[in-house]
Amino acid sequence: MMKLLPVLLALVVSVGLNAVAKQHRKLYFGTATNNEEFTNDTAYLNVIKDSRMFGQLTAANSMKWENTEPSPGQFTFADADQFVRFAQRNGQILRGHNCVWHQQLPDWVLDGTFTESEILAAVERHCGTLLEYSINDALNASEDSWDVVNEVINDDGTFRQDVFFNTSGTKYIAAAFRAARAADPHAKLYANDFNIEGPGPKVTAYHNLIKTLKKEGVPIDGIGIQAHLIVGQLPSNITENLESFTKLGVEVALTELDIRMTLPSTPQLLAQQKKDYETVISACNAVKGCVGVTVWDFTDKYSWVPGTFTGEGDACPWDDNLQKKPAFFGIIDGFNA
Ligand code: G3I
Repeated sequence: MMKLLPVLLALVVSVGLNAVAKQHRKLYFGTATNNEEFTNDTAYLNVIKDSRMFGQLTAANSMKWENTEPSPGQFTFADADQFVRFAQRNGQILRGHNCVWHQQLPDWVLDGTFTESEILAAVERHCGTLLEYSINDALNASEDSWDVVNEVINDDGTFRQDVFFNTSGTKYIAAAFRAARAADPHAKLYANDFNIEGPGPKVTAYHNLIKTLKKEGVPIDGIGIQAHLIVGQLPSNITENLESFTKLGVEVALTELDIRMTLPSTPQLLAQQKKDYETVISACNAVKGCVGVTVWDFTDKYSWVPGTFTGEGDACPWDDNLQKKPAFFGIIDGFNA
């Protein structure tokens, strides 16, 4: 009965995921979003604007390099402003996403020819300006986090070869973190990546990167574990894996959680998905240094999954019609486990 109580309560009253996360000493439960979604869709707006449900927002696209610095040194924050103002109005903290990533780059970066010092200067200007922007504009800037570098390591543990690495080796990583810290002394600065939910060569490479950066005095505060997962295929030892990071003196957060399935969905798949959400949330809940969880949009209506993985989807805790799925209650169970 005791175990059933939270679920029964959640069914009767509208329980907020952020409220539950906070009861369990997490800083937030949040979601990614796009401006078009909360501006054009009233049913969506009514769920996302409630800070008892979502205490933190991540811009899925509007702060990325192609959107914020489309030409060298020309910064445009119209979309970011709309997003930041929305979060401010709702009393929600922000995750900045992201400073440096190999995707969604403007052509001048992607196809540009740079010397080492030119690419480092471009990275410093971009990260510095983004962090300066967010410290000036975000209501709760001191609680905010930033994905300073995104997806810099391959699954086999080697560094990703992109315009930044090919021009500067790993120097751009330190340069990005230092510029971010110089611009905003308070934001928590993260490296963010996928496929690091369980042990393996990629996790080992991140351990080594953290040790090296810390030895060099580079200001890294956290590792964002994206957690784009597959129903029935969770890595084992998620809890121990989170602890392996926190032991190195960084915090962790689940930054892009979703758990996709092969369509069509069935009651069995939805039940397994509920269990999987519970497992992941309870792992974060069990680790003191796991500070919060963000889902990569909360409804299947706007999930990135079907557009990327043909035949897969239904990865989110709310369905296409903005109705809560069993996964929603799996999240509550995970916090209460
Ligand atoms: O803005 C254009 C629009 O003008 C055009 O009409 C439309 C036609 O397709 O495309 C729009 O751009 C799309 C953009 O999202 C904004 O909706 C791009 O095609 C599409 O590729 C882009 O996808 C984003 C993806 O990153 C790019 O890789 C997803 O929305 C976004 O959720 C996703 O987020 C990433 C994280 O940043 C990093 N981790 C993985 C995660 C999922 O891929």
